[in-house]
Amino acid sequence: MTDANGPAHGAGTGAVLGAEFAPAKINLALHVTGRRAGGYHLLDSLVVFAAIGDSIVATRSDLPGLDIDGPFADGLDTGPDNLVHRAARAHEAAGGRVGNLRLRLTKRLPVASGIGGGSADAAATLRLLAAIAPLPAGQPDAAPAIAATLGADVPMCLRSTPLRATGIGERLAPVPSLPRLPIILVNPGVAVSTPAVFQRLERADNPGLPAFPPEFADIAALAHWLRATRNDLEAPATAALPVIDDVLTTVRAAANCLLARMSGSGATVFGLFADDEAATSAAARIAALHPDWWVVATHA
Ligand code: C5P
Repeated sequence: MTDANGPAHGAGTGAVLGAEFAPAKINLALHVTGRRAGGYHLLDSLVVFAAIGDSIVATRSDLPGLDIDGPFADGLDTGPDNLVHRAARAHEAAGGRVGNLRLRLTKRLPVASGIGGGSADAAATLRLLAAIAPLPAGQPDAAPAIAATLGADVPMCLRSTPLRATGIGERLAPVPSLPRLPIILVNPGVAVSTPAVFQRLERADNPGLPAFPPEFADIAALAHWLRATRNDLEAPATAALPVIDDVLTTVRAAANCLLARMSGSGATVFGLFADDEAATSAAARIAALHPDWWVVATHA
């Protein structure tokens, strides 16, 4: 999809200034531990980032704007409310010399699906602009503060490394190093409203994550630790959209699946596998059974 100006004037006609990857965010565990005055919930989440994601390319253009292409471009608005625009405006307001740029967002992740999406795109825009439209020399990095104004998940996506997120998602801490995680992502093609899922949550005062071990020796050790954790949004999301339960059951039943769980507020479900081959064949089988679902094998 492109905006009214069309692709003929868009990205690709000028010099490419830079590109940035916007990896999918996966909440391996997501505990809701409280609720703040004002409505936002307190979380305790182990988050990793996948090798699949959206991407953003910037070109010099005398026609600034945003183009969107890719398998999930349809229905996305290129207008001023798009998080990519909002990130660029905030970077400019902080002193970044954005100038005449045209951005092209390639949308490979389903929209409103619990794996970052718009938050990852906003964070990637901030990283890209920090590189190609820097703030004046000596000015401290504004990206983390800007990220927090754009959404609860944007600060973690800005970092895009494995981390533990607390607060409303903006307090980020390192985690023990993780093994390579062969993962499949499965989305049944239903968009989920995050506020609606939080509203259906029965209890917000759940315990936080258990203590982390000094290290996860291998994926089996991580899966073992994860089995004592939850995604507290899984029950309210599934109550609203029972198809998520079908996805969970299907992924869980795949050969060699170590753990299946919903990410974020859904509807995407991830499956953890012992090796890439098991993940790839599970993805192929599920895609054949459910041709209308989005299914990918990747790793984090
Ligand atoms: O910050 P973001 O725009 O991603 O959040 C979308 C909505 O999800 C919020 O308006 C809020 O209803 C809910 N939310 C929440 N607690 C969080 C994050 C999001 O209640 N920690």
